[in-house]
Amino acid sequence: MENEELEQDDRIICAEEKASDQILDCTLRPQKLDEYIGQSSVKENLKIFIEAAKSRNEPLEHVLIFGPPGLGKTTLAHIIANEMSGNIRVTSGPAIERTGDLAAILTNLSDGDILFIDEIHRLNKSIEEVLYPAMEDYALDIIIGKGPSARTLRIDLPKFTLVGATTKVSGLSSPLRDRFGNVYRLNFYDNNEIGQILTRAARILNIELDKDAEAEIAKRSRKTPRIANRLLKRVRDFAQVKKNGKIDNNTAQEALTMLEVDEMGLDFIDRHFLECLIKKFNGGPAGLNTLASAIAEEMDTVEDVIEPFLLQLGFINRTPRGRVATESAYRHLKVEPPINLQDKLI
Ligand code: ADE
Repeated sequence: MENEELEQDDRIICAEEKASDQILDCTLRPQKLDEYIGQSSVKENLKIFIEAAKSRNEPLEHVLIFGPPGLGKTTLAHIIANEMSGNIRVTSGPAIERTGDLAAILTNLSDGDILFIDEIHRLNKSIEEVLYPAMEDYALDIIIGKGPSARTLRIDLPKFTLVGATTKVSGLSSPLRDRFGNVYRLNFYDNNEIGQILTRAARILNIELDKDAEAEIAKRSRKTPRIANRLLKRVRDFAQVKKNGKIDNNTAQEALTMLEVDEMGLDFIDRHFLECLIKKFNGGPAGLNTLASAIAEEMDTVEDVIEPFLLQLGFINRTPRGRVATESAYRHLKVEPPINLQDKLI
């Protein structure tokens, strides 16, 4: 298959959720805060606020969780529901098309329920406005009639907790953001934490995974649990078909090479992007538009999917004149950096 024909969703290192992850996530998803690995400050805060709300017999204040895809926002929403002993109703910003859709969801909740809205930054303005009184006063304002004779009818709602998740906190309007009592940012995991997540997943899935192999998979997982779990599953398939089912370092290396995920977790699309920047555009600066056309990808894909991890690794800089490859990127692709590289990076 040509690289250009490959959809973003087909990438094994794509951090967005795929249908196949959902099956995996249900088995591997931790149910309690104590089972959740990493994000220690988020956990500590949540533990206190959950305990306080429970002891007062009140719902938890609304929670906003933001951060890159695959780091466990949905998992945390389920954990909050479990810890609060409430039911969870899951929906997403783009799924709520009309104010009536949201009104139906809200009126069907019970006291203590969790309403989880994923991609909350994609709610449209008129729907956001229904949320304001719902979040603030547990009330739904319905307008009856039109023009001068229109009246507002207020319906009481159950005392629920809204958990909103977003990858783009800047995409949220400030009135909506201000209505969340708890705001948490999820950070990328370190390799040690990803290793612990892999140990746990291997135990649950009954996979024999040795320590070196675990470290190898962790290193290539882009600091993202969802990718780590997905790579583990693919390496297990490889070990089962080509080897004796056990995953040692050799097996992990072979499987990951076959999957074209390199030792830093970059796949061929990332490398194609860097090669293009370095070889076609002399390392930059090159504009987003130009680069996206050169590798036949959408600008949004380059900006939201390819670049964040390369920025995180320090392989590219975003300068006012465009994208520039750093010395680490040259070294990673085994290309000698130019002498004037420092000037370009400013
Ligand atoms: N699976 C995915 N994310 C996890 C996490 N943070 N802790 C434990 N298991 C996980």
